[in-house]
Amino acid sequence: MIPVMPEHIAPAGIDDLHQVLADHHRYWGERDLRPLHLSALVHEFGETFLAARAEDGIRGYVIGFVTPTGTGYVHLIATRDDTRGTGLGRRLYAAFADAAHRHGAVRLKAITSPGNAGSIAFHRSLGFDAAVVPDYNGPGRDMVVFRRALPFD
Ligand SMILES: CC(C)(COP(=O)(O)OP(=O)(O)OC[C@H]1O[C@@H](n2cnc3c(N)ncnc32)[C@H](O)[C@@H]1OP(=O)(O)O)[C@@H](O)C(=O)NCCC(=O)NCCS
Repeated sequence: MIPVMPEHIAPAGIDDLHQVLADHHRYWGERDLRPLHLSALVHEFGETFLAARAEDGIRGYVIGFVTPTGTGYVHLIATRDDTRGTGLGRRLYAAFADAAHRHGAVRLKAITSPGNAGSIAFHRSLGFDAAVVPDYNGPGRDMVVFRRALPFD
């Protein structure tokens, strides 16, 4: 069932990170991405770790940072399994873009594996260009790189 109560998107902290890790499967299914949820990213880039909170908990989150050259990099974004398709992923990206822009970002970037068709479709819907970069993660390990300029409308 799709929750109807509105969520509030705001900067998050280490307790929120532990909460989403406890419910990891609700956001990532069978894939184990827990090792990518680094505490350092929360401690050092807390302004760009955003959670969508509601009465029923954290419905989605985005973990990212702004590079010294003005790239707002999205490291992880996920919405809870019962909230998908409601526009929450788009709203999280818009909130991240606002926060990143305030901290000097002029463009956005993210990556995914070539087999993640859902992520590729999602990013294309949000106006990203998608290009396969050979050997991005080392020999034979291509990745899809998403890029788009800011502002994010
Ligand atoms: C990818 C994910 C974040 C999308 O979140 P969401 O809340 O369902 O996305 P939204 O409802 O905001 O959709 C935004 C747009 O993307 C499109 N979209 C989202 N997921 C899609 C999918 N799997 N296939 C095709 N299109 C998709 C929507 O149709 C919508 O397009 P529109 O605005 O042009 O109509 C969510 O499916 C998720 O958490 N997946 C598991 C984690 C993951 O893979 N994260 C991405 C890693 S890079």
